[in-house]
Amino acid sequence: MIEAFRPIENYWYIACFSRELKSKPVSRTILGKPLVLFRTGEKPACLEDRCPHRNIALSLGKVKKDGLQCSYHGWTFGADGKCLRIPAESESGARPAARSLPAVESQGFIWVFLGDKVPGPVPEFPMFSAPRWQNWFMEREFDGSAFQCIENFLDVPHTVFVHSGLFRTREGSDTTLSIVRNNQSVTAEFLNERQVDGLVGKLLVPAGSQAKHTDAFLMPSTTRVDYYFSEKRHFIVMSQCTPVDEYRTRVYTYMAFRFDPIAPIVRLIYAPLSSMILNQDVRVIKKQSDNIKRFGREAFYFHQTDAIAREIREMMSGRKARSSHKKRIRA
Ligand code: FES
Ligand SMILES: [Fe+2]
Repeated sequence: MIEAFRPIENYWYIACFSRELKSKPVSRTILGKPLVLFRTGEKPACLEDRCPHRNIALSLGKVKKDGLQCSYHGWTFGADGKCLRIPAESESGARPAARSLPAVESQGFIWVFLGDKVPGPVPEFPMFSAPRWQNWFMEREFDGSAFQCIENFLDVPHTVFVHSGLFRTREGSDTTLSIVRNNQSVTAEFLNERQVDGLVGKLLVPAGSQAKHTDAFLMPSTTRVDYYFSEKRHFIVMSQCTPVDEYRTRVYTYMAFRFDPIAPIVRLIYAPLSSMILNQDVRVIKKQSDNIKRFGREAFYFHQTDAIAREIREMMSGRKARSSHKKRIRA
C-alpha cells in the first residue's frame, strides 16, 4: 500500500468519455471500487459492479430500456439500483437493490460521485466553448498513484531531463515562487522565471515576450498550468486524474489554447508534440512505480525544489493548510 493513497471520495471523478457510453455497459474501477455505467434513455447511470443476488459483475449484463439486466439469472436493476424484474419469480416478495451512485454527463464526459455527502457542481473545463480557442483531450492510463501524476504535471525540474531539449535546455536558475494555499487548492505563480528556450519555446513563445506562468492544484486530483502572454496568446493544460487504485491513475488532459490568428496551424505542431511529451511522462512514472514496488514502499524526500508537491501531498493526506508564502527555487 502506497502511503499517500487515501481515497478522497466526496468529489466528482471522470469515469469515461460520453461517446464511450452507448448501448453496452462500461466497467470502470475508481478509487479501488468496481463500477458499472450504462444509460437509461439518454441519462447516464452508475451502479456498483456487483449483482446483489450472486455477485457476478453487472457489467457482463445487457442494457434494457429501463435498466441493466444481469447475465446470470436475468434480474434487472434500474438507474437508482432498484430491482425491477426477477424472471423466475412467481409471487412478488422482497428484492435486494444494487448500490447506485450519482452520475452526470457534462462537457463530453460521464462523471461519477463516490462519496456520501451531497455532490457539489461538476468541475468545468475553462474556455471550453470560447470563441477563437482550440481544445482537445488526451487520455492515458498511468502506472502510478494520483499523487505521482499530479506532482509530475506541475513539476518543472524534470523537464530538462525527461523532456530533454523540449522545454528548457539548461539546468536551473533562481525563480521565485509565490504559493497560495486554501483548503481546496494550491496555486503557485512563477516570478522572474527564465524563458522556455527548448523546441516548445521556439515554436510557441514569441521572442522577447514574457509569460505569466501559474501552476494550480485543485482538490481532489486536478492540475492546471497556464502560460499567459496576452489575451490573444494563452495556453492552458488541465489534467483530471481519476485514481483507479493506489497504483494506477487514468488521466484526462485538457489542452486549450488561443493563438490569434494562426491557432489552427500552431495546433498541427502543438498537438503531436504534447502527445509525445505525455508519453515521456507515462514512461518515467512507470519506471518510478516499478522501483517503488521493488522496495515495497515509497520513501520520498521533499526538497525545496518540491515546494508545490509538498503542499499538495499535505493537502491530499488531509493535513491543515499553512498560510501563503513565497519560495525561492531553482526551476
Ligand atoms: S447473479 Fe445476478 S441475477 Fe443472479
Ligand atoms: Fe513531464
